[in-house]
Amino acid sequence: MKDKDNEFFVIKGLGGKKTLSGEIAVNGAKNEALPAMAASLLFRGELAISNVPEIEDIARMGELLEGIGMKVEREGSNTVITPGKNISSTIPDAISKRFRASIVATGPLLARTGKVSFPHPGGCVIGARPIDLFLEGYKKMGASVEETDHAYEIQAPKGLVGAEIFFRNQSVTATETFIMAAVLANGKTVLRNAALEPEVEHLAKYLKICGAKIKGEGTPTIEITGTKLLSSRGEKYAIIPDRIEAASFLLLSALAGKDVTVTHCVPEHLGALLEALEYSGIKMEIGKTSVRVLGERYKNGDIMPMNIKTHEYPGFPTDIQAPMTVFLTQASGESIVFETIFEGRLNYAAELIRMGANILPMDTNRIIIKGQTPLSGKNLESPDIRAGLAYIIAGIISEGETVIHNIYLIDRGYAKIEERLRSIGVKIERRSHEA
Ligand code: EPZ
Repeated sequence: MKDKDNEFFVIKGLGGKKTLSGEIAVNGAKNEALPAMAASLLFRGELAISNVPEIEDIARMGELLEGIGMKVEREGSNTVITPGKNISSTIPDAISKRFRASIVATGPLLARTGKVSFPHPGGCVIGARPIDLFLEGYKKMGASVEETDHAYEIQAPKGLVGAEIFFRNQSVTATETFIMAAVLANGKTVLRNAALEPEVEHLAKYLKICGAKIKGEGTPTIEITGTKLLSSRGEKYAIIPDRIEAASFLLLSALAGKDVTVTHCVPEHLGALLEALEYSGIKMEIGKTSVRVLGERYKNGDIMPMNIKTHEYPGFPTDIQAPMTVFLTQASGESIVFETIFEGRLNYAAELIRMGANILPMDTNRIIIKGQTPLSGKNLESPDIRAGLAYIIAGIISEGETVIHNIYLIDRGYAKIEERLRSIGVKIERRSHEA
C-alpha cells in the first residue's frame, strides 16, 4: 500500500468566485458503518452491510475485527463479516489507537466472550476523549475493570447483567456500545440520557430486525432486554447517508457554487445546517434525497452573520463546526462560534487567521469571526478529519494556491474526496513527495 504519510493536496483557489456546478453524491455514514461493523460480534452467522464508505477508518475497523478472529470481506461499498471459530478478547493496540471508534467494539466483544482488553483508544486531537462512561457502565453491568500500564482488562465470566445506566454526558459511542453490550446481557438494561443521533437510532432499528429486543431508540431513554446471538435472516444492513459529509458539501456549495446539487442525502438529518444556511440568505431547493444550492442569494448577495452553538443532535453538529467557521469568514458582519462538546476543537482557527480570516478567541470554547475577509492560499497541516475538510473549503475559496499535508486524516473520513470535488469543478490534486 502506498505510504500515505507523504501525500498532500494542492488546491487552486477560486478567489471568491462562485463557479462550482453539477452533482456530488454523499457516501454512507462513517459514524454508522463503524458501529455496524462492530455489531457483527453480536451475530451467530454472517452480517452483510451495504453503502459502507471506502475510507481509512473502515479499513482499520476491518483490520481490528480480523485481528480478533472475524472474517471480513470487502468489495466496494459492501462488507460481509463472519464470526470465526475462536474469537480473541484482546483488541490489537496498534490498530485501535488509530481511531476513537475502536471503543465501540469493546461492548459486543465483552458481551460475546465474557472479557475484553484494549488500550486507551486513539483518534482526533480534539479533546481528552475520556472513556469513564464506558468503564463505569461495564462495572454497573457486573464486569470487573482493571487498568494495567497500557490496557484496560474487563471481565464478566458469567456474562453481563442488565443495569440502569444514566450517562452523565450524552455520548454517541457510549450509547451505541451499551445498546450492543445489553443485547447479549442477562435481563433488562435501561440507558438514560442516551444519544439521539440518527446513526444510533438506525443501528438499534437494524438490530431489532435481527431479533434484538430494544425500545425507545431515538429518545433519551432506551430499554434493551438481553437475548441470544442475533441472526440477520438475510436482511442486509444498509448504512444511512453521511450527514456530516452532506453538510460539508452544502457549505462549500453555499460559498463557491453556481448551481450544485448534493445527492444521496437525508435532508431531515440536516435540519440545523439547512436552517442556518437559509437564515444566512442561501437559496436552496430541498428534495427528498437531495439539496440543490443556487448561486444567487436572497440578501443582495451578502451572507448574514450568526451565532452558532454546537449541540448534541438535533442541534448544530460539532463535526461541521470548523467548515461553518470558514463559511462565516465570508459573512458580512460579526459571528460567534461556541464549541460546547469538545474542549480542543477550535485550534484549527489559527491557520485560517494566517489565510486572512479575522478571528478572535473569546475563551477556550468561543471565537468571534469578523467577516467578510478574502482568504489567500497557504501551506497547511490537517489537524483532524473535520478541520482537514474545512481547510479544503478554505483553500477552494482562497486567492492563490493552498497545499494541505497530513491528508491521511482527511482520508480517514472522506472517500476519494479530490475526485468527487473535481467533478463539480474544484481544482484539487493529490500529490506525493518524491520517496
Ligand atoms: C462521536 O464521537 C463521533 N465519532 C464524533 O465524530 C462526534 O464528534 C461525536 O460523537 C459528537 O457528535 C463516532 O461516532 C465514531 P461523544 P464520541 O462520546 O462518541 C464526553 C468524527 O470526526 N465523554 O459523543 O467519541 C466527550 O469528552 C468524530 O467523525 C466523556 O466525558 O463522542 C465529549 O465531551 C469526531 N466520557 C462528549 O462526551 C466518555 O466516556 C461527547 O462525546 C465518553 C465521552
